[in-house]
Amino acid sequence: MERRNFIKSCSILCASTLGVSTLLQSCKSTFYIPNSFDANRIVIKKADFLENKFVLVKNEKLQAPIYLTKHSDTDFSAVLMLCTHKGCELSTAGNYLVCPCHGSEFSNVGKVLNPPAEKDLEKFAITTDASFIYIQL
Ligand code: FES
Repeated sequence: MERRNFIKSCSILCASTLGVSTLLQSCKSTFYIPNSFDANRIVIKKADFLENKFVLVKNEKLQAPIYLTKHSDTDFSAVLMLCTHKGCELSTAGNYLVCPCHGSEFSNVGKVLNPPAEKDLEKFAITTDASFIYIQL
């Protein structure tokens, strides 16, 4: 193989490997956390959060998942993954959210980053104790 072709092949291999690696990384970071429902709140074990910076909470009481972010051991935020523009379910993009319908973007605390959405996401009050996180519905 000529040197030029060898370098070209390696570049393509490296680029595709990086792409797969990035994709796997983003897949790995999306995690649906087990939860239960009690007294109008969703209950999550802190131990189930593992090393994740954020998790998704799916529950039959919700019309879309909740994006739950861990800012510290005692500081969490929870936003409904429902676009405030026309109501499409949002997708995760690392530590922010993207609307697949018209491209609005939201921060991990629900602030609009890019239009056409103009209104921030619905937020939920959260309390914690030593073992659990409680999302008030
Ligand atoms: S529904 Fe989300 S940007 Fe339009």
